[in-house]
Amino acid sequence: MKKIVTILGARPQFVKAAVLSRIIQNHQEIEEVIVHTGQHFDANMSEVFFTEMDIPKPKYNLAINSLSHGAMTGQMLEKIEKILLEEKPDAVVIYGDTNSTIAGALAAKKLYIKVVHIEAGLRSFNMQMPEEINRILTDRISDLLCCPTNTAIKNLQNEGFDNLPITIEKNGDIMKDAVEFYGKSSEEKSSIIKKLNLQKNEFVLATIHRQENTDEITKLKNIFSALEEIHPKKKVILPLHPRTKKMLESYNLHPKITFINPVGYFDMLELLKNCNLVITDSGGLQKEAFFNKKHCIIAREETEWIELVENNFAEIVGSNKQKILQAYELFQQKKLDFSKQLYGNNVGESIYSSIYKLIQN
Ligand code: UD1
Repeated sequence: MKKIVTILGARPQFVKAAVLSRIIQNHQEIEEVIVHTGQHFDANMSEVFFTEMDIPKPKYNLAINSLSHGAMTGQMLEKIEKILLEEKPDAVVIYGDTNSTIAGALAAKKLYIKVVHIEAGLRSFNMQMPEEINRILTDRISDLLCCPTNTAIKNLQNEGFDNLPITIEKNGDIMKDAVEFYGKSSEEKSSIIKKLNLQKNEFVLATIHRQENTDEITKLKNIFSALEEIHPKKKVILPLHPRTKKMLESYNLHPKITFINPVGYFDMLELLKNCNLVITDSGGLQKEAFFNKKHCIIAREETEWIELVENNFAEIVGSNKQKILQAYELFQQKKLDFSKQLYGNNVGESIYSSIYKLIQN
């Protein structure tokens, strides 16, 4: 039996990997060994996803977290290399753009093990973002690039990838499968709407965690000041990421909105289904908003999911308070048809076939 090693570490990767792991188990043709780097370690940032989404238990947990980028990536690289030497997989599968992604890719490539990058080809064109550095370098050393969108394919072509011995596939966005599959049972499994006493369409779901926002006091102040202004009109519910919590405390900021602890996937889906709109600097949540037919206000200067903006489903506002408030008002009036297909169908199976093909050679 062929074997793959999947490297995971951060919350959005657990969601994506859940989809593929389930498909791998259904087919029973490939053995999957999961390595958790430990980058996200709080129970509500990690374990809850494994339990709720039935992700197979990681064979290895490296417990590497809360370090500087260099130290974190370096330690992961060293430990993943050892595991790969022992496991001798046919391919290593990595997701997205985190430090766990680049560490996994680099460790595998130097051992001549095939690298599969899921969510490849995305670009923000902002080299100040650690995620942009991670994804560009990861794409370049991968053997199979599983792209979510036409834009991703175009980005790779612009960087000359057509001339490289790398297989590029347009599979679609794996998060779409996650929303569809787990969305079927989220209402039954989650009681968050009742617990928080929320009314349908009467609250805003917000998340803020990007380093570019949290590490600059002016930006963080502007964003939270806008959220505070929206709160009396529509309650702002914000599951608080540990980085943002730390930074708000260190700046002594106490915005008057409703903070909750980070939530599991079923709760998140219920919040998405029932909210009025989403305000976020997360990449994944922008699309999860779209899949749940909600507009999204993007608190960043750019987005990798540009088709959301081009089709008026989302708006980029950066950390500009007035722009956030204007976008909020605009989206109160807009009623768009969300049935447009932007991110493919049956994506997990398509990615599975691409990986299967790769490891047969
Ligand atoms: C990482 C990814 C980012 C992704 C995000 C999802 C990188 C460079 N960034 O950012 O692309 O969108 O995950 O959330 O890899 N912390 C806890 N408990 C946890 C997890 C983190 O307290 O369970 C703390 C860490 O100690 C650290 C801070 O939160 O101080 C940030 O965590 P870190 O893993 O550095 O990056 P994220 O901001 O989560």
